[in-house]
Amino acid sequence: MMIFILLLVLYASIPFTYAADTIFANQTVRYNETIVSAQETFELGFFSPSNSTNHYVGIWYKNISKRTYVWVANRNTPLADTSGELTLTLQGVLIIRNTTTDDAIWSSGNSSATSVKNPIGQLLDTGNFIIHEEGEDINQEDPIWQSFDFMTNTLLPGMKLGWNLVTRIERYMTSWKSEDDPGSGEFSFRIDMRGYPQMVIMDGEKMKLRGGPWNGLRFSGITQLRQNQYFNFTFVISKREIYYQYNPIDTSAITRLVLQRNGELERFFWLETTQEWNPFLARQNDICEQYGLCQKYGSCSIDKSPVCECLKGFEPVSPDQWQTTDWTQGCRRTIPLDCDPEEGFNKYSNLKLPDTRESWYDQIMTLVECEKKCKSNCSCTAYTYTNISGSGSGCLLWFGGLIDIRTYAEGGDTLYIRVSASELESVENSRSAGRKVRIIVPIAFVVLIILVSICLYCRFHRKKQQQQGAPLNKLRHDGENRSGDEDLELPLFGLSRIHAATNNFSLNNKLGEGGFGPVYKGILEDGQEIAVKRLSKTSTQGLHEFMNEVISISKLQHRNLVKLLGCCIEGAEKMLIYEYMPNKGLDSFIFDKTQSELLDWPARCRIIDEIARGLLYLHRDSRLRIIHRDLKLSNILLDKDMNPKISDFGMARTFGGNQMEANTNRVVGTYGYMAPEYAGDGIFSIKSDVYSFGVIILEIICGKKNRGFAQDEHSNNLIGHAWELHNEGRSLELVAKCLGELINVSQVLRSIHVGLLCVQRHPEDRPTMTNVILMLGSEGPLPSPNEPGFYVGKTKHNTTQVSSSYETSSNNELSITMLNGR
Ligand SMILES: *[C@@H]1O[C@H](CO)[C@@H](O)[C@H](O)[C@H]1NC(C)=O
Ligand SMILES: *[C@@H]1O[C@H](CO)[C@@H](O)[C@H](O)[C@H]1NC(C)=O
Repeated sequence: MMIFILLLVLYASIPFTYAADTIFANQTVRYNETIVSAQETFELGFFSPSNSTNHYVGIWYKNISKRTYVWVANRNTPLADTSGELTLTLQGVLIIRNTTTDDAIWSSGNSSATSVKNPIGQLLDTGNFIIHEEGEDINQEDPIWQSFDFMTNTLLPGMKLGWNLVTRIERYMTSWKSEDDPGSGEFSFRIDMRGYPQMVIMDGEKMKLRGGPWNGLRFSGITQLRQNQYFNFTFVISKREIYYQYNPIDTSAITRLVLQRNGELERFFWLETTQEWNPFLARQNDICEQYGLCQKYGSCSIDKSPVCECLKGFEPVSPDQWQTTDWTQGCRRTIPLDCDPEEGFNKYSNLKLPDTRESWYDQIMTLVECEKKCKSNCSCTAYTYTNISGSGSGCLLWFGGLIDIRTYAEGGDTLYIRVSASELESVENSRSAGRKVRIIVPIAFVVLIILVSICLYCRFHRKKQQQQGAPLNKLRHDGENRSGDEDLELPLFGLSRIHAATNNFSLNNKLGEGGFGPVYKGILEDGQEIAVKRLSKTSTQGLHEFMNEVISISKLQHRNLVKLLGCCIEGAEKMLIYEYMPNKGLDSFIFDKTQSELLDWPARCRIIDEIARGLLYLHRDSRLRIIHRDLKLSNILLDKDMNPKISDFGMARTFGGNQMEANTNRVVGTYGYMAPEYAGDGIFSIKSDVYSFGVIILEIICGKKNRGFAQDEHSNNLIGHAWELHNEGRSLELVAKCLGELINVSQVLRSIHVGLLCVQRHPEDRPTMTNVILMLGSEGPLPSPNEPGFYVGKTKHNTTQVSSSYETSSNNELSITMLNGR
């Protein structure tokens, strides 16, 4: 019996003894031996940086052609040669030993676990090396030891940057000393726990960058982290731990966040096609990031000159110095406080919240309780929510001077600052802006149910409001208006209000004819300009598209999508109300001889990039996948600052999580922009939008329409022409004459190249918008494009059925609807 059990134990242990991802107690790893995670994602072993004679134990990606270290054990105590050994002791401690002297030059430290029985070390596919009891769950919260608790300069998906409040371990990142020396450099990226936790990058003891507190959606001072289609971010504050974490939305993406040697945080993507790490949205440094530049009660605005200003109700301590842009004295109250019970709070919007090192917080309190709490203590200077998501919650109080504030053009946080009674703004003024009716638009599988509920909701509110005789916009229950949670609310406009705004739909106000009816310009009572899209009463098909647009766009919020301000549904009238775009469609610039001179290359380059970002948002929104289906220059509107915004979602289709393509027998879209598989077979996918985007790039660069393009020697369209010039290395001839010499040649060539990749005949060859943006923004080599769709070629017999229908159809630029004869 004993022997049997012994055999069984032996047998059972054999496969594990040699499992490559595991090291057992008393086992040793020598030079040239490695531990490899189960799916072969990461590898642990000895290494030596390229220009160094020192040797380290570290973890790197196993399958990436560019050796990249994500963790280093003995970063500050290197080995001088290859004779070192890595051992796991019986007590569950990992040791790197100098075999000559038999000294441990590095150890993972005494474990806090009281009695360790059968420790094993295991390299997981997350890149985490953990020491745990054999047989225990590898996903447990606190193993005996884990490398994720001791980061070096790299934050991998799933790592927690912050504090484990149980073990009191702070997990933070430190830069490398130099490219060849992984030793601890001067910069660290961490969560500061004095007061309300905030993200900081320290240069030694000095604050380099204050990312600020988490407001429930993002760090208050890192606006770039908003509305990101690549990553989910979380910041957790619980009794157990406080941490920041990110995970790619596309879980197959290989990505890392690195604290560079200069203290910059940079996020990288591994791009398989170029075999390069591509930086993702490099953070733009600006002067306002300098900690406390404008000192106490000063606010920094990057688009003002000079950048520092005292907050409203505050004045420079030393006006003369302030005049000379010496801001070191900061600002003070125009009227000092004296703890008068009449004192109150003024609301300041679009801020980066001040330093929270002298603050107090409670995550349960309401804003009303918060105001009371702040008011009751005379040293409390300001308050706000801790969490602006949902209807807002929690309470964050500041004591002492408010420092390191900046003001953004849009999208910052709201802060309520204590002021004397005479400085108080009237409640009416500060709150009227926030009156909105909230319509919850649930994401449900049955579109019909959504349609019905919206209609009912709209009607219900209209009735109620008519009874009350009140303005159509009702006060929200808490009377507050915060940025960040408004993507699900859609205000209602009364018909009479629209009549007044548009001069009774006067012809003078008509802007044009959209996909399903006329569009009018209007001016609301408060002076705001709007564009009103009025659904023609006779069109039944229009109703479907109208609701489609309401549902699609009401959930979307992106700076490159035109903003829906509300809807109006009364009787037979159905209208969408948009922000007004004074500069009309991009076509009116690109294709117009005089207007086109207003758009130089940098402007066009930026416009291309921003359209791409808007489109990426549609394609990669975490909840929905939206195919626009009618992208064209005239559907890209320009705001007063010439920012492009994608509009006209009447044809858009929403896809569920895994659905990649769909088929329709009602092909809608515009000739010249439609991909061949869509125009021909009615198959549409994100790749058919990518095709349209490719056409847009080429048109923006060339200044000519794809459709109707005629060049003496060619019977070709613009795409075909671009393809032929590309093959002959003459792409530059494509560039619009008005751009002249003032172009960045490599950027132009790159854009044309990417355009050609987008219009390739086969959808599977075309890049995704993620890749388009990476390719446009990087400098690495690009794949060669294959023949474009609708390429007629120089010889007639290449002409396909599809291209001939394309060739012969009429010349008008309006959206077309055609029934597919299949
Ligand atoms: C071990 O220590 C000795 C004495 O300090 C040193 O000369 C030798 O280079 C070390 N070996 C390694 C592998 O670092
Ligand atoms: C006001 O708050 C500060 C900081 O939390 C605290 O030290 C002080 O005791 C409070 N004063 C009163 C009167 O509650």
